[in-house]
Amino acid sequence: MTTPVKVAVTGAAGQISYSLLFRIAAGEVFGAEVPVELRLIEVDPAMRALEGVVMELDDCAFPNLVNVVTTSDLKVGFDGVNWALLIGSVPRKQGMERGDLLGVNGGIFKPQGQAIAAAAASDVRVLVVGNPCNTNCLIARENGKDVPADRWFSMMRLDQNRAMTQLARKAGKPVTTVTKMAVWGNHSATQFPDYYHAEIDGVSAPEVVADHAWLAGEFISTVQKRGAAIIEARGASSAASAANAVIDTVRSIATPTPTGDWASVGVVSRGEYGIPEGLQFGFPIRSDGSSWEVVDGLTHSVSAQRLIDVTRDELLGERAEVTELLP
Ligand code: NAI
Repeated sequence: MTTPVKVAVTGAAGQISYSLLFRIAAGEVFGAEVPVELRLIEVDPAMRALEGVVMELDDCAFPNLVNVVTTSDLKVGFDGVNWALLIGSVPRKQGMERGDLLGVNGGIFKPQGQAIAAAAASDVRVLVVGNPCNTNCLIARENGKDVPADRWFSMMRLDQNRAMTQLARKAGKPVTTVTKMAVWGNHSATQFPDYYHAEIDGVSAPEVVADHAWLAGEFISTVQKRGAAIIEARGASSAASAANAVIDTVRSIATPTPTGDWASVGVVSRGEYGIPEGLQFGFPIRSDGSSWEVVDGLTHSVSAQRLIDVTRDELLGERAEVTELLP
């Protein structure tokens, strides 16, 4: 039997996990033939709810789900894992400043980074979803330096998928025709969904859409504010679409990127496009299934560069607020 892939998920009793775990166990992420072991990590007060989720996993009788471990002990949770999906975090509450949020979450992601470095498998890859995900990822990465910096990722894919759908709708084409959708920067309202380099049926998106005012205005703001629009309509934040984006992200890292396309992922900057080294920044990347690189050679208009500068500055500000959490 093939060795199972061991996957740790934090926040395993939360909303996103409720949409995600069943799809992982069904073989949608690592392949229908690959056995999976889930290591589900929660805080103590959520353990009872997690038991209920595990009962439901049991009741699906998934052929490939070979083991499920539940724990609030990080060393146990991350022991030998090949993937760590860091979803659990503390949401922003009324009256909480962004700085407070960073501080609270830093308290979560510092020990998690340390525990991953101490306990995970030598090939571990980490995807941070819990917000503010780019800076949380930076905190975990900096505290888990035994794991190479290029194995830490933060999630921009929901933004990419949102942008692809908006472009496809506007062009009156299926979403499968949209490629090269880069989302630069922070997973926040400052992100820059880069319509300029996107293609629809292999043709430049601005040429196909031919409505510059819409692209530079409504398109960008719809994608930037989509998370808030969903909270407003649903009374809860995006969960099924976030889980779906986790699956897309893992697949785009772990399998070769199709020719003529790329994927948006938050990765460590090595200075590409003038982004300061070490920031966890949304870039278009290409993967060969084991290593990846930022797509090079793209040029930005003055207005696009201005938007990238704004999101870069926001991430620099976030990093400055968490310096005491960085070793
Ligand atoms: P949720 O509140 O339903 O679940 C979060 C879970 O995390 C809870 O069960 C909680 O007990 C658990 N948790 C809290 N601290 C923990 C810790 N130290 N260790 C382990 N578990 C812990 O939230 P939901 O909807 O599942 O969202 C989770 C996070 O994902 C939020 O931060 C949200 O903002 C973020 N998010 C990120 C997106 C992205 O595109 N990057 C998209 C949507 C949500």
